[in-house]
Amino acid sequence: MITILWALLSLALPVSGLRLPIRCPQARECQLALLSNNDVLLECNGSEVDWFFFGMNTDEEPFNASSISNIQQNPEGGLLIQNPSFLNTGLYRCRDRNGTQVTGYKIDFQDITNLYISHIDLDQEPLKNETLSLGHGEVVYTQWEPWQRCSNCASPGERKRLGFCYIKEPLEEPVPCGLYLGDTKTFFARVRPEMQVEACYEMCRGALTGGDYVIFDNFRFTEGSEPTWLTCPLASIYRPVHWEVNDTAITWQNQLSGEYVSSFMDPLSGGQQLKVFQPAIYRCFVEQELIAQFNPTDPEDELRESERQSKGQGWFRTQPGKADSVLRGLKLMLLTLSLLVVGGLLCKVVFRPVRGKKRNQVLLVK
Ligand SMILES: *[C@@H]1O[C@H](CO)[C@@H](O)[C@H](O)[C@H]1NC(C)=O
Ligand SMILES: *[C@@H]1O[C@H](CO)[C@@H](O)[C@H](O)[C@H]1NC(C)=O
Ligand SMILES: *[C@@H]1O[C@H](CO)[C@@H](O)[C@H](O)[C@H]1NC(C)=O
Ligand SMILES: *[C@@H]1O[C@H](CO)[C@@H](O)[C@H](O)[C@H]1NC(C)=O
Ligand SMILES: *[C@@H]1O[C@H](CO)[C@@H](O)[C@H](O)[C@H]1NC(C)=O
Repeated sequence: MITILWALLSLALPVSGLRLPIRCPQARECQLALLSNNDVLLECNGSEVDWFFFGMNTDEEPFNASSISNIQQNPEGGLLIQNPSFLNTGLYRCRDRNGTQVTGYKIDFQDITNLYISHIDLDQEPLKNETLSLGHGEVVYTQWEPWQRCSNCASPGERKRLGFCYIKEPLEEPVPCGLYLGDTKTFFARVRPEMQVEACYEMCRGALTGGDYVIFDNFRFTEGSEPTWLTCPLASIYRPVHWEVNDTAITWQNQLSGEYVSSFMDPLSGGQQLKVFQPAIYRCFVEQELIAQFNPTDPEDELRESERQSKGQGWFRTQPGKADSVLRGLKLMLLTLSLLVVGGLLCKVVFRPVRGKKRNQVLLVK
C-alpha cells in the first residue's frame, strides 16, 4: 500500500505544481505576458470547446492546440500549457462546437532564463527604461505585477513581485515585448522579465488551516553525495514560497548577496525547487502555510526504516495531534491519484484536501 502510494505520488508530483489559472472575460481577446517554464491554465467556459493556436501570425492557418506536445485540453474546457517556452508565444482561441469564439488569449511567454533579479534590501536597482532604435520612439520598460504576499508570517519573510517586459510607442497601448518584436531577429539586451524581492514582516491573518502537510522521508543523503533537488508541491513562481533548513529561514537576500549558503533556491521556478548540499530537515511553505517537510535518510537508517515500514508506519511520520488529518489527507490523495491515473487526468491533481479555503488565485486580465 505504501509502495503504491509512494509510486503514485512520485508519478504525480512533477505535474502537480500549481499552474496559474488565467481567465479572460468572455468573447474578448486578452493580451498578456507570462513566464516561460512555469505552467499555466487558460480558462474557457464550456466543455464543448476546441482550442486553436495561431502562433505569431494571425494570417496563418491555426493549429489544433492539443496537438502541440506540451499542451493539453482538460475536460472543463481549459487549456493546460506545461513548461511553456517562447515557442508557445502567440494567439490562442477557444471556440465552441459551432465555431463561435468564446475567448482568446494573446500570450507572450517571456524567457525566464533571462530573468533579472534585484533585491531592495541589497540596494539593487531594477532595470531602467530604454529606448529602442526601431524608428517609432519605442520605449522598453517593465510593467510590475502587484507584490505577492509575504512568504512568512509572524517572523521575517520576503515578498516578491514579477515584472514583464513591455514596449510602448507614443500614443499607443503598451504591448508585451515578445508580441511587439514578433519575428524580429535583432537581440535587445533590455528585453527580459524581472523579479524584485524585499524583506517583509506580516502578522498571521486569521487561522491558518495547518495540519495537512506531507512528510517525505525518502530524500537520501550520504557524506559527500551529489546535491539533490527538492520540489515544493503546490509552489510556483506566481505564489509566495518560503523554505527553512533546520528551522532557519532560507532567504533570497543571502543567496543574492553571494554569501556562503548551504542551499540554492532555483530562480527559474521562483523557489519552487531547492538544491541542497547537506543533510538537514527542510520545510517549505506556500502562501505562509507549511506544505511539506523533507527529512534526510541515512543509509544506516535504512534497516531501521525497513523495520518501521514492515510495522506499517511507512515513509511518513506525523506530528502529535496531526495524525488524523495527515492520514485522511493521504487516503484522499490516494483515492484522487488512483482515479486520476486511471482516468489519465493527471493534469487535475488535487494534492491535498483544502478545508474550506480557496487556494487558487485567478488572474483576471482586461
Ligand atoms: C461561465 O459560465 C457561467 C454559467 O454558464 C457563468 O455564470 C460565468 O459567469 C461564466 N464565466 C465567465 C468567466 O464567463
Ligand atoms: C485536436 O487534437 C486532439 C489530440 O490530438 C484530438 O483529441 C482532438 O479531437 C483534436 N481536435 C480537433 C478539433 O481536431
Ligand atoms: C449551435 O447552433 C445551433 C443552431 O444555430 C444552436 O441551436 C446551438 O445552441 C448552438 N450551440 C452552441 C454551443 O452555441
Ligand atoms: C518608463 O516607461 C513607462 C512607459 O512609457 C512609464 O510609464 C514610466 O513612467 C517610465 N519610467 C521612468 C522611470 O521613466
Ligand atoms: C541541521 O541539523 C543537523 C542535526 O542537528 C546537522 O547535522 C546539520 O549539519 C544541520 N544542517 C544545516 C544545514 O544547518
